[in-house]
Amino acid sequence: MTSTAIPLPHLTGFTERAGNWYAEEVALADLAKEFGTPLYVYSKKALTEAYHAYDRACVDSKGKRRARIHYAMKANSNLAVIDCFRQLGAGFDLVSGGELARALAIGADPQSLVFAGVGKSAPEIAQALKTGVKCINVESIAELHKINRVAKEQNCRAPISLRVNPDVDAQTHPYISTGLKGNKFGIAYHEVLKTYREAALLSQIDIVGIDCHIGSQITTTAPYLDALDKVLDLVEHLKREGIVIHHLDLGGGLGISYSDETPPDITEFTNTLLNHVAERGFAHLDIVLEPGRSLVGNAGVLLTTVEYLKPGAEKNFCIVDAAMTELMRPALYEAYHSIVPIQTKAVKSATYDIVGPVCESGDWLGRDRTLAVEEGDLLAILSAGAYGFVMASNYNTRPKPAEIMVDGKDVYVIRARENVANLFASETVLPK
Ligand code: LLP
Repeated sequence: MTSTAIPLPHLTGFTERAGNWYAEEVALADLAKEFGTPLYVYSKKALTEAYHAYDRACVDSKGKRRARIHYAMKANSNLAVIDCFRQLGAGFDLVSGGELARALAIGADPQSLVFAGVGKSAPEIAQALKTGVKCINVESIAELHKINRVAKEQNCRAPISLRVNPDVDAQTHPYISTGLKGNKFGIAYHEVLKTYREAALLSQIDIVGIDCHIGSQITTTAPYLDALDKVLDLVEHLKREGIVIHHLDLGGGLGISYSDETPPDITEFTNTLLNHVAERGFAHLDIVLEPGRSLVGNAGVLLTTVEYLKPGAEKNFCIVDAAMTELMRPALYEAYHSIVPIQTKAVKSATYDIVGPVCESGDWLGRDRTLAVEEGDLLAILSAGAYGFVMASNYNTRPKPAEIMVDGKDVYVIRARENVANLFASETVLPK
């Protein structure tokens, strides 16, 4: 199938007008000219609208807040991006000491931070406790004991949730499914009650919540409701045993459209979950949501320049200056991203594999795409705002690209392009 048959994702911050693509009010071609390629470009409007879509459902008809959004910054942790969300009222879901440092760098309230991750080190736990985060989401019994030990050393108490592995099939790519019993994440469903009982006996542990995350790029609501019911059953059971849960963290995972996917509307989806919590009699719980991709995925594009067109016996290649080093998702998950020329041209179209300059056959960005392009033309790889720049690498000693945020007519460089000398500035040769 060719790209012409596949619909483009639904975008709010990027539009095509008279054959030219824009980020809000700024022509993408002008950005490429000024800042060079490869180049990440984000739309503030798009991420703001996505946030509001969640937030609308988080406040009930009487104005009472029934849920809080903790943006999963692993999706895109640029300081400007996370600071926009902080200003909109978001807290954060963190998975490393590095992400915690980013949250503190923008002045996030420690009580708006939840710290997750399957392999937290003792220094990371100590850093989280010292900061005074809202909650540490615990993923194993061994980790629970390590947190207790570190808290004792610091002479403090540790607020924790257990991350439940509910064993539901999120029907997504196996690499981004997290809530099946074969996944490394969370505490096995049948061990959760036992682990809470154990936690309740530990001297430095305060049980504050329960947590669950079943996967990413999930495009239906049903697996969430299955997981939610299983977690609420546990909350009920714990209450009978005198273990009180204050907040319920439902994780992230709502998918976006990369082409023809039809994920549920964000506000409707959130309402469905929150109404279900209320219908089951748990309206008193504070609900935490941890969306990542659905807040930023379609708020970003990656611009790239066509270096060469290389016709072949079996395939034609369109070799561009972006690669798996800038956007790893196609190489890693065979993920589909729409790719469009940002200025329409009256040249002959052909079907190409769009590939980068990196020395790997896995270095491809799109396959079998029909494009009307010539050498030197600019392409936009769409839906690149989530898990794009954050997964970039310096393989082949390639400097990471610059990142730009557009707000209406205003353009901000939110990360300068790396320079090659800096890439090996901290390396040394052996003494002669
Ligand atoms: N909370 C937890 C505990 C998570 O593990 C994740 C994502 C999220 C929240 C945010 O999920 P989201 O709303 O973004 O789906 N690199 C992959 C995605 C990995 C997701 C890992 N966990 C990709 O490019 O598709």
